[in-house]
Amino acid sequence: MLTQERFTYSFDETLALGAAFAGFLQPGDAVCLFGDLGAGKTVFVKGMAKALGIPPEQVHSPTFTLMNIYEGRMPLYHFDLYRICADDLFGLGYEEFFYGKGIAAIEWSERLEALLPRDCWQVLLAHAGDDKRSITITARGESLQARWQALKGKL
Ligand SMILES: Nc1ncnc2c1ncn2[C@@H]1O[C@H](COP(=O)(O)OP(=O)(O)OP(=O)(O)O)[C@@H](O)[C@H]1O
Ligand SMILES: [Mg+2]
Repeated sequence: MLTQERFTYSFDETLALGAAFAGFLQPGDAVCLFGDLGAGKTVFVKGMAKALGIPPEQVHSPTFTLMNIYEGRMPLYHFDLYRICADDLFGLGYEEFFYGKGIAAIEWSERLEALLPRDCWQVLLAHAGDDKRSITITARGESLQARWQALKGKL
C-alpha cells in the first residue's frame, strides 16, 4: 500500500495539508475520509476547497441536503455519510459525483465502504492528543499507483 502519515497540531496545519494534497488531484478523483467525530475531516475538506479556489468558510458538512456542491476550478462534491444511507445515495445518482467531472470528498467513508470507488484516495484522520492529529493518506487502487509517485514525499 502506498501510504504516508503526517501529524498536524492545529486547524491551520490540517487546512494547509488538505490544500497541498488537493494540488495533486484531477477531475474524477474521489477522496474518502475516515475518522472519528472532530478528527478534522471537514477541516481537511476546507483546505481542499481552498486549493480549488473555493472560500473555505463556505464548506460545511451537508446537514439539510444529501450533498453540497461548491463551484471552484473544478466542482467539489461534499458528502457526509454519517447522516445518509445507501438508499439516499442511490436516489441521488451518486455515481455521477463519485466518478464525475469534479472531486468527490466523502466524510465518514467507513459507513458505506462497499459503495466507495475501488480506486480512491483514502485519508484517515485520528486524534493523537489535544490538538494533535495523525493524518494518513493512502492511494487505493491500480490507477493511482503512478499518481502516487508524483505526490509521495511532497506533503
Ligand atoms: N490539528 C487539528 N486539525 C484539525 N482540526 C483541529 C486540530 N486541532 C484542533 N482541531 C479542531 O477539531 C475540530 C475538527 O472539526 P471537524 O468538523 O473538521 O471534524 P470532523 O472530523 O469533520 O467531525 P465530524 O465527524 O463531526 O464531521 C475543529 O473544531 C478544529 O478547530
Ligand atoms: Mg465533518
